[in-house]
Amino acid sequence: MSNFDTNMIEVFTTSIRTQDEAKRVLHTIGNQFPGLKINFDLEDSGRPYPCGHSILRVEGAAIQPAPIISAINKSGFNCDILEDKICAAQGAEEPDFWETAFSEKKEMWGLAPAPSAVLVRDFFVENHVKNVLLPGIGYGRNAQVFRESGMRTTGIEISKTAIELAAKHYGKEIIIHHGSVTDMPFDNVQYDGIFCYNLIHLLNESERAKLIQDCYAQLSEGGFMVFVAISKEAPTYGQGTLVGKDRFEMFGGVKLFFYDRESIEAEFGLFGLFEILEIRENNLFFLIKCRKTG
Ligand SMILES: C[S@@+](CC[C@H](N)C(=O)[O-])C[C@H]1O[C@@H](n2cnc3c(N)ncnc32)[C@H](O)[C@@H]1O
Repeated sequence: MSNFDTNMIEVFTTSIRTQDEAKRVLHTIGNQFPGLKINFDLEDSGRPYPCGHSILRVEGAAIQPAPIISAINKSGFNCDILEDKICAAQGAEEPDFWETAFSEKKEMWGLAPAPSAVLVRDFFVENHVKNVLLPGIGYGRNAQVFRESGMRTTGIEISKTAIELAAKHYGKEIIIHHGSVTDMPFDNVQYDGIFCYNLIHLLNESERAKLIQDCYAQLSEGGFMVFVAISKEAPTYGQGTLVGKDRFEMFGGVKLFFYDRESIEAEFGLFGLFEILEIRENNLFFLIKCRKTG
């Protein structure tokens, strides 16, 4: 709790996730505790409460936390005073997930490229792309098709084992930055092509927005970025545990955000989006094409 002039501020965590829920609870506690200034900071971290939480800030001359917590509990949500709880940092479970997956299953999708990588390679060749960035490159099976067509390839990959597998199969010529795409940029190169296959849907809302912005920032003028992302029409949609809007935890710990045309427009619309194709591989995906112009 902190003092602020004559007012006090108390900060709570809650399991409220949506604007509608927040409005409803604001209305209830606003009526019950007139005189308090109350606001929410919603964040879709995708993780279960308490590590995933929204923030409720209450400001006023006299704040009694217990009745506020009780009122929010009665509305059907968890609520606690914010403490420095130790939760694994966002994304911290992903390196383990992918490390374990590559350590145990090695080249789990084989060495042939995904069909959409071949489509995008042809598209890049037609458009004279020479220098390609692949965020979430895995062990390099998709990079190889671009290399065979004379393009330079650079990857970003969170799993050290996947990077070692890439070196084993394709040599050290594919530069791979070890780390999370959430920490982009890893270099100051401008790429005329970016191909991001089956990665973006693994991220939460703010991470997806940052990835799109960071890729766009590393695109040279006239360059293309193409994302492959899972569709809401995929049979896996709705399986596992719901952890956010259109986002489910499944396959032993991985979280997937399922796209439709509306969410594609919303996320990529300001970043040169010009084509959305539906493609079927081992599942239903969207191929999302953007071009940097102007
Ligand atoms: C579904 S796999 C696709 C791999 C590769 N594109 C392919 O198809 O061969 C997702 C890849 O992204 C990597 N990855 C997951 N989260 C990441 C992150 N935050 N930053 C960088 N790479 C990540 C995983 O280790 C994995 O290699």
